[in-house]
Formats: sequence, C-alpha cells, structure tokens
Amino acid sequence: MRQIVAEPIADHVPPKDSTRRVALIGGTTTFEDCMVALRRLLYPRQLIQGPDIAEYECAFARLIGARYAYSFCHGRVGLYGLLRGLGIGPGDEVLLQVPTHIVVSNAIRFTGARPVYVDCRLDTYNMDLEQARQRTTPRTKALLLQHTFGLPADIDLALDLTRRNGLDLIEDCVHALGATYDGRPVGSFGRAAFFSTEETKTISTTMGGIVTTDDPALATRLQEFQRTCPPPPILQTASYLLKLMLYHGMTEPHAYRFCRPIYEFFGKHNPLPRPTTPEEVLGKRPAVYEQRLSNGQAALGLRQLRRLEANVAHRRSVATAYHKRLSEMGFRVPRCPAKADPAFVRYPVWVENPASTERAAIRFATLGMWFSSVLEEAHSPDCGAYEMGACPRAEEAVRHLVNLPTNPRVTAQDVEAIVSALVRAQAMDGGRRTLL
Ligand SMILES: Cc1ncc(COP(=O)(O)O)c(C=O)c1O
Repeated sequence: MRQIVAEPIADHVPPKDSTRRVALIGGTTTFEDCMVALRRLLYPRQLIQGPDIAEYECAFARLIGARYAYSFCHGRVGLYGLLRGLGIGPGDEVLLQVPTHIVVSNAIRFTGARPVYVDCRLDTYNMDLEQARQRTTPRTKALLLQHTFGLPADIDLALDLTRRNGLDLIEDCVHALGATYDGRPVGSFGRAAFFSTEETKTISTTMGGIVTTDDPALATRLQEFQRTCPPPPILQTASYLLKLMLYHGMTEPHAYRFCRPIYEFFGKHNPLPRPTTPEEVLGKRPAVYEQRLSNGQAALGLRQLRRLEANVAHRRSVATAYHKRLSEMGFRVPRCPAKADPAFVRYPVWVENPASTERAAIRFATLGMWFSSVLEEAHSPDCGAYEMGACPRAEEAVRHLVNLPTNPRVTAQDVEAIVSALVRAQAMDGGRRTLL
C-alpha cells in the first residue's frame, strides 16, 4: 500500500467564506453545457437520435483504450446487456462485492443468474479477492470487480484469479471514470467494463451508462442488444436536460445554501426524475428497463469527457488534502493500492456516527452516505437475495461510512471547514478514532 500522491489544492488556506455551502455533486458541467442543453430543447430535431451518440461512444472507447463502446440509459442496463452477451443466465453464478448498489445485483438476477456476495476489505472498500477465490464454484462464470469510490481494486490479483478459474472479469467502473492502474485506465483490463454518467458520478448526463470491450464477438452482441433497446421518450429526455441545467445552478455553492432547504422541503415529492424506481429498490424489474441514451445527453457527455483530466486532477488534489488532514487527526481513511491512481468520485471516511457527522457538517457541505446498506437503496438486503451475516465487514462499514465531496467546486477552505466539522462530531461522539 502507498499513500495517495497528488499536488495539494493550495498551500495557503484563506479564511472560510461563510456564504458558501458545498453540494456533494455538481461542478462537472459548465454554463456553456447548459446553453447546449437549452438549444437541444429549443430545437429538438436531434434530441433523441443523431450523430453525437456515435461520436461520444468513439471518444469514450478511445479514452479507455478499448476498441468498442456502447451507450445506454443507465450503467445497470449496460451491465445487463453485457452479462447476456457473455451468455450468463439461469444456473450461473456471478461474484460481486458488497457494499454495492441494489441495481447491480438486480442486473445479475434479471438474467436468471445468482449473485454471490463477497465481503470488502476495510482499507479500500474493494473486494476481498481471497474470499472471492473461496466462493468460486464450478457454476461461477464471472467476477464483477468494483472500483469503489474510484479507488482501483487489485487488478493483478483479480486477473490471476479469473484466469486460473476460467472466469470473465467485468470491471464496475461506475465510480472510477478517469482512474488508472499501472498507468492504464481502469476499464481496459477485463473482458469488458461498464461506467455510469448518472448525476452523482464523475461526469453527468443526469442518467446514462456505457459499456466498453475489446472483444469483437461480444461487441457484436452488445450492438444487437443496443439495437433492441428503444430510444428514450422525448419528455423523459427533456426532463433529464432540464434537471442538468437546474442542478448546475442549484449546486453553485452560494446558491446551494438557499436551494438545498427548498429541495429538502419537497423531499421525495419533488417532480425531478429519480435514478432508481420503486420496483428496483424491491429487487424487481421495472416495466421500462432497457433504453438507449439520447443524442442530447451524448452531446453533454462528450463535452465533459474533454474536461475529464482537469476534473479528476481536482478530485485527486482534494482527496490528498482530506487524506493529510484527516490522517493527522487520527481518522480511518482509505489507502491507495500499489500501482493505482484513483479518481475519487467521493472521499470515504469512517466515523463513529454518520448521522451526527452529517449534521455537524451541514453548514458547510452536504455529505454523502454511500453506502448505508450492503445493497444501497434496497428496501432491505434480502430484496437482492443477500443473507445477513454473509459479509460482516461490509455490514459494519455501512454503519460507519460518510463521503466527502471532491467535485470541481470544492476549495481548500471547504476542505478545512469540513474536516473541522468531522473533528467536532467525532469529539461529541466519544472521540474514538481509528487509523488503519
Ligand atoms: C457501484 C455501482 N455500480 C453500478 C451502479 C449503477 O449505475 P447506474 O445508476 O448508471 O445504473 C451504481 C449506482 O450508483 C453503483 O454505485
């Protein structure tokens, strides 16, 4: 293990600007992106279908260093198409880690295959690959390797395990767009990988996912699957672009102070589109599941891909600042595996009490709660056929994790304010801090 290495965001930290409050998400779009979205809405001829989709897919494949990329309405749908393209179905088993999101488990179960849960490590929150080896059976067909929070997993070990057992390695790069391992982008190591551009991820098209592979036969099957997916409805696409514009404005730190209470007031009744349906949280297949990405969203994804390097460099430097300050204060912070350059979509910290930590930080920032369940957002873990007790480290982690914002709007002053809030909360919660 080695420490995270990146330039600090600032040597000198000026006093905190009390008129700011940092959102967990946002800052990956620009005003010009919003103008592009607005033009697409006003002249909707190429809102759903058009040349931006192919251009976006080519740019994505180039960035990952893969030969093929196919876009979908969500990362989970890309994963579902990928599993089917690999011939995975009833009677097969797929290894995946917890914590993860219920929709990952759903994609496996919707093919008829059985998800086999593997515990996480507590230093990286990635899969315990030794336990994955022990849980491999003759029915195991694939290993889903999640790069949690954008911290690359131990890919060498995963490749060794999958080669020895004749399994397909699929990389879950949903948190890790822009991360590298051994100098190569994550997503370029396995048989295939999938990514998400949902609004909480490294770049945002409000919703969206993409699958990459080098395998021509698999690519043909993915292309066929994409062809069978209907294009998204015009009103849904319009609501995604409107949400992107709205979030761009609302998450600006001076505006966010006022917008967040309004958003909280509406709670679940707000009319904005949500990423996970009521059926999905119950582990059930929604009536509308498979769809393509719209041309309008692809145009916005393409623009953000061009700025990805600066976006990820910023996230790394914010993570470096958190790492330095929090480890000085004795918090349990993640460690960066050898050969890895993380993307840090969020920065995870282990605290005594996530709820009181969130309250202590609220004046300065909204903290994330990934993961608050072994299967995030699930109504209960058994909706994803998870048996309590199967992965005790993950079950403990979800009682202690909070995530700090790393998005392009986070400044050095924000980092200081957030760290001091964490220190205050921890002192109130008994002051027991653990350094790994
Ligand atoms: C680790 C992980 N994988 C996959 C997904 C699904 O991505 P999408 O929402 O694009 O389907 C999520 C959702 O947040 C996730 O956290």
